[in-house]
Amino acid sequence: TDLAHIRNFSIVAHIDHGKSTLADRLIQETGTVKDRDMKEQLLDSMDIERERGITIKANTVRIDYTADNGEAYVLNLIDTPGHVDFAYEVSRSMRAVEGSLLVVDSTQGVEAQTLANVYQAIDADHEIVPVLNKIDLPASDCDRVAEQIEDVIGIDATDAIQVSAKTGQGIHETLEAIVQQLPAPQGNLDAPLKAMLVDSWYDAYLGVIVLVRIMDGTLKKGMRVKFMSNNTLHHVDRVGVFRPEMEMVDSLGPGEIGFLTASIKQVRDTRVGDTITNDRNGTEEALTGFKPAQPVVFCGLFPVDSSEFEDLRDAIDKLALNDASFSFEMETSAALGFGFRCGFLGLLHLEVIRDRIEREYDIELITTAPSVIYHVYMKDGEMIELHNPADMPDPSKVDHIEEPRIKATILVPDEFLGDVLKLCQDRRGIQMDLTYAGSRAMVVYDLPLNEVVFDFYDRLKSVTKGYASFDYQMTGYTEDALVKMSVLVNDEPVDALSTMVHRDRAEMRGRAMCEKLKDLIPRHMFKIPIQAAIGGKVIARETLSALRKDVTAKCYGGDATRKRKLLDKQKAGKKKMRQFGKVDIPQEAFISALKMD
Ligand code: GTP
Repeated sequence: TDLAHIRNFSIVAHIDHGKSTLADRLIQETGTVKDRDMKEQLLDSMDIERERGITIKANTVRIDYTADNGEAYVLNLIDTPGHVDFAYEVSRSMRAVEGSLLVVDSTQGVEAQTLANVYQAIDADHEIVPVLNKIDLPASDCDRVAEQIEDVIGIDATDAIQVSAKTGQGIHETLEAIVQQLPAPQGNLDAPLKAMLVDSWYDAYLGVIVLVRIMDGTLKKGMRVKFMSNNTLHHVDRVGVFRPEMEMVDSLGPGEIGFLTASIKQVRDTRVGDTITNDRNGTEEALTGFKPAQPVVFCGLFPVDSSEFEDLRDAIDKLALNDASFSFEMETSAALGFGFRCGFLGLLHLEVIRDRIEREYDIELITTAPSVIYHVYMKDGEMIELHNPADMPDPSKVDHIEEPRIKATILVPDEFLGDVLKLCQDRRGIQMDLTYAGSRAMVVYDLPLNEVVFDFYDRLKSVTKGYASFDYQMTGYTEDALVKMSVLVNDEPVDALSTMVHRDRAEMRGRAMCEKLKDLIPRHMFKIPIQAAIGGKVIARETLSALRKDVTAKCYGGDATRKRKLLDKQKAGKKKMRQFGKVDIPQEAFISALKMD
């Protein structure tokens, strides 16, 4: 296809504003998929995505469209992940296209994620077409939302297209706007191949599938290509496009988006953002801005049943094949036995992986407290990257510790502003900005990431009744008074409950944790002290009193079924407990104890 008849675009939207529905409608309207093959949310392929309504992997579709001017166009839509954890993937897919549809729910207005993603689109020099969705709903208020887009984002929204992705109204206008308003891609057919690796994933039949955007030159079946980040050579055995199912083609030229396969076994061997070129006489200049995605949140994953360790290893190996941003290494914990220390892009990423292990591989897990990477500067000048509080070096040898901080953007209706400010303040936040857009406030906070990784999002949702939206980006490392707090149950340290905390908050956190554990640990036949300590110094303590009599005692002579039920229940409960010395600690204690109220 000649460049003038190609349009490449992505859709920027907050969760639930209708991105997938709109994409489905564009595909359907152009007859790309026959009506009878149409299923809801065609582009969200993974089950878990569908259930949670979150798009995780970038997906793509090539649409043929004959415009009102009679010319035939090829429209390539790249679907970007909507969640902050995947900001790097978003930025890559943005670089692969020239324009964006900015979809805003006209009953809701601009949200924090819309902002974060639209800034990425602006960064990538996109032409942006505002689309006001859900105009079929009575609460739709296009004038107000258009004005808000202008105020908050600063782009002209007078000609925003009014759409109902549900009824199909405005879909034709959207297609015309894509053709008329978005620029055609540029590129040089005669130059050596220069293609961007936009995304990759594992397919059981074809091996790794690599999504590419051709910048210059031609990608052909049968050629040998080089991945510039690691200088590996690959023989291209298939080239194709998504419609959205795969369709093989002989070649892809400048401006086109499609895929290649090259008998690549692991997603790890492909890096998002990498440049692909000819094996010989290739391009000299790689695309700029390449960086491998770095995990920022770490936690331990241990099987509840220690005999399932090998199964867990297997599951993690398999998941890692398809997810280059997920890292892991074996870990042993005195308390939890063998497991893995895993690194994730963020909390959602952690949850998705944990869910998949439990669901697809049927392994029950104990997840330890999520932790960020601390920079521990030793007195001898060495810097240690601490991924696990349990590995904290002897404090007397430590000079100072730095922790990662983020810039958080929160959009919230006025009436909840006070609660949000208090929450951020409580989490050691520093307010950087506060502005208004209509009846909503936009607050920007500088926050320590470790105060956010655990339950900040849950808390934010609950204090604002779900009305706040939140997004963040990492800003850098700063020094603070951080200490490792250990927890001792029956005088035995439980390494999996160690956390890094700010000195000023240690006592409060320690006390809260001991109180929680006291409620979560069942009583035993003996008294159990529960303590929080910094170094050798105990800063909080609770005592769980001894159990006086056998729980089944009252059933003696009574109803035998009831007694059996009780014993069965205890047995089931046992499975989910871990023994620490002489004490059984239930699985949920590991997560609940760390939540702050
Ligand atoms: P994520 O995939 O989670 O990012 O969400 P999304 O932005 O793709 O939103 P999705 O397309 O899943 O739409 C969210 C909800 O809004 C769904 O229940 C849709 O059926 C509904 N919806 C989407 N567009 C319209 C519309 O034009 N009118 C009405 N009434 N509902 C719509």
